[in-house]
Amino acid sequence: MVLERINELRELIRKHEYQYYVLDEPLISDAEYDVLMQELIKLENEHPEFITPDSPTQRVGGKASERFGAIVHRYPLLSLDNAFSPGDLLDFDRRVSRVVSQPSYVAEMKIDGVSIAIVYENGLLRTAATRGDGLVGEDVTANIKTVKNVPLKLQRNLPRLEVRGEIYMPKSEFLRLNQEKEERGEKIFANPRNAAAGSLRQLDPGITASRALAAFIYDITYIEGEEISSQQEMLEFLRETGLPVNNEARFCNDIEQIIDYCDEYVKKRHELPYEIDGVVVKLNPIAPRAQLGQTAKSPRWAVAYKFPPEEKETRLLDVEINVGRTGIIAPTAIMEPVFLAGTTVSRASLHNFDLVREKDIRKGDLVLLHKAGDIIPEIIKPIAEKRTGEEEIINPPQNCPACGSEAVRLDSEVAYRCENINCPARLKESLIFFASREAMDIDGMGPAVIEQLVERGLVHEIDDLYTLSVEQLQTLERMGAKSAANLIESIERSKKQPLYRLITALGIRYIGSKTARSLTQYYHDIDDFLNLQREDLLRVPDVGLRMAESIVRFFAEPRNQETIERLKAAGVNTRDEDLNTIPPTLSGKTFVLTGTLPNLTRDEASEMIIARGGKVSSSVSKKTSYVVVGEDPGSKYGRAVQLGIEILDEASFLQIINQ
Ligand code: IVH
Repeated sequence: MVLERINELRELIRKHEYQYYVLDEPLISDAEYDVLMQELIKLENEHPEFITPDSPTQRVGGKASERFGAIVHRYPLLSLDNAFSPGDLLDFDRRVSRVVSQPSYVAEMKIDGVSIAIVYENGLLRTAATRGDGLVGEDVTANIKTVKNVPLKLQRNLPRLEVRGEIYMPKSEFLRLNQEKEERGEKIFANPRNAAAGSLRQLDPGITASRALAAFIYDITYIEGEEISSQQEMLEFLRETGLPVNNEARFCNDIEQIIDYCDEYVKKRHELPYEIDGVVVKLNPIAPRAQLGQTAKSPRWAVAYKFPPEEKETRLLDVEINVGRTGIIAPTAIMEPVFLAGTTVSRASLHNFDLVREKDIRKGDLVLLHKAGDIIPEIIKPIAEKRTGEEEIINPPQNCPACGSEAVRLDSEVAYRCENINCPARLKESLIFFASREAMDIDGMGPAVIEQLVERGLVHEIDDLYTLSVEQLQTLERMGAKSAANLIESIERSKKQPLYRLITALGIRYIGSKTARSLTQYYHDIDDFLNLQREDLLRVPDVGLRMAESIVRFFAEPRNQETIERLKAAGVNTRDEDLNTIPPTLSGKTFVLTGTLPNLTRDEASEMIIARGGKVSSSVSKKTSYVVVGEDPGSKYGRAVQLGIEILDEASFLQIINQ
C-alpha cells in the first residue's frame, strides 16, 4: 500500500519536474508540487527501507536540455530544504545550534526565477550556465550577456570569481509580455519564473534581449585572491564588484528576528517589483558551514522558508465574452469579490476557450483563485467536489459579441477572433493600421485624429474615411483649415495606391506588405481574392498554410466583402491596371539596398525592383546581383566589395531600372 503510494508520488513528481525544468510548462502550481514532495518525504522518513537512490527526494531537480552546450559546474549547485512554518525554522535553528553557538543569520529574498552560475576571469564574464541537474548545466553565456544588469566587466580585476544568482522577470515585464502574447493569440506564460526560463533558453539571444530580464547575485561559489568570512561580507563584496545584489537582505541576530523578517515580507511581498516565493535563511559565518555539511540535495546551513500559497475559493458567477482591440474574442470570469494577495478581485481573464475546457471550469462553480506572477488573477481549477449539478458548461461563441460576424479560429491559434475589419471593437486599431505608412500611407491620419473621428461618430466604418469633408475635419482639436485641407488631399491620394497596399491595409492576419506584394504579382484584382481556395494561394511563393487559411477566412466574411464593395464605390483603386505593362526585366535578380540615396527612398527603390520582377534582400550573399549604395552605407557595402558584387549608385540603379 505505502510502497504503491510512494511509487505513484515519484512518478507524478518526475512528470512535473520534466514539465517544469525541461518544457518550461508546469501543469501544477509550486505549492501543489511542494505538497506532493512533502508527502513523499514523510513516507520515506517513516519507511526508510523504501528509499532508492533515484527517488526525486535524493537528487537535485532539473535536467539540462540538449539544445545548448554543456557546462560542468566546479561544485554541484545545490538546492535548499524547505521550511513551511515558524516551527520548521526553530527546528532548523536547533540543528544549526548543535554546531554553532548562538548562530546569527542573513535573511534574503527568495527570488522566483532561474538559477544561474556565472564565471568571471580577470574581471571579464566568461561563461554562464543554468543549474541543469546541479552537476551539468546549459551554456547560456550568449543569452546572459543580453541581461542588462549583469556586468560584462567587474569593477575589480579578480583572477577568478564564480558566482551564483537568479535571473528573473520583473512583474511589469511579465504583464507586458503576456498581454502581447494574448494579443497575438499565443500561449501565455504561467508565471514570471517560466517566462524568465523560456526567455533565457532561447537559441536566438535576440529574443532574450527583447525581454527585460534582470539578475540578483547572492552567492560566491569560488574566488581567488580574497578571503570572505560571512554572508554579510559576501553580499557587500559582490555589490562592490558591480554585481546586482538585492537590497532587502538583512542581518539577523537570532532565529526570532528571522521569523519577524519572514512575517514582515509575507505582507510586503506584493509591493516588490519582482516575485518572491519565500525567504532564504543563511547562517552568517562561513567557517562553520563546512562542519554542518550537506545532504545529497541541500546544505544544512541554509533553509528556504516558503510562503503559504495565496489562494482563495470563490464563486464563478458569470462569464463575459469580450472582443479586444485586435479582434480576439476572450472569456472573462466574473466572480464573487474576494480579497487576494493585496487587492479585491472580482474578474479574471480565462484567456481562451481551450483552457476553459482543459480545466473544466463551469459557470456557477466554486473555483480556486490565485495571482499569476503575484499580479494577474487566475482561476487555478474548479472545486469539482462541491458541484451541485446546476453548473453550466462554457462554450466558445459562434459569433463576435460586438458585431455578430462569425467567430473564427485559425488552426494554428488558440484564440477565436472577429475577422470583420469594421467591427466596432476593432475599428480604431483597424483604422490606425489602414492609414499607416506601410499600408495606405495617409499622411496626417495618426492615432490622435482617428481617436477623435471615432469618438465623435464621424467614422463608423473604414470606408467612411473617404466621405470626410474639410469642414468635418476642421472641427477636430488642433486641426486648422490648412491641415484639414492637407489631410483631405492625403486621403484622396491614398485612393490611387497600388493593390498590394490595400491588401496590406485590410490587416488580414499574417499578411504583411511583403506577402501582399507577392500575392498581387499573381492576382491583380481584389475580386480575384473573393474566390480563391487555399490550394490556389499555396502556389504563390512565400505564402504558407496559415497565411492561405487566413486569407480565405477573411474574404469569406460577408461583412468584409461589403466593406470592399464600399471602398470600391468610394473610388479606392482595387486593381493593378498597369502591372502587366511593366516587363519583368529584373526577374531572377536580387538587390540589396544600403545607405541613403540622394532622391529615392528605400521603399520607392524596392517598389521599382519588385514591380519589375526582381527581389530585395536584406543581406548580401554570393547570390546577390547588385548592391545599391547611398550615403553612410552599412557593413553590407564592405561585404559586397569582399564578395566582388556589382555596386550601383542611384544613377546607375535608375539606368538598370529604365533599360
Ligand atoms: S541560496 C547552496 N539564495 O532557490 C545555496 N537561493 O530552492 C543555494 N533562490 O536553487 C541557493 N533566491 O535558485 C539562494 N537568495 C537566494 C535565492 C535562492 C532564490 C533559488 C535558487 C535555489 C532555490 C532553492
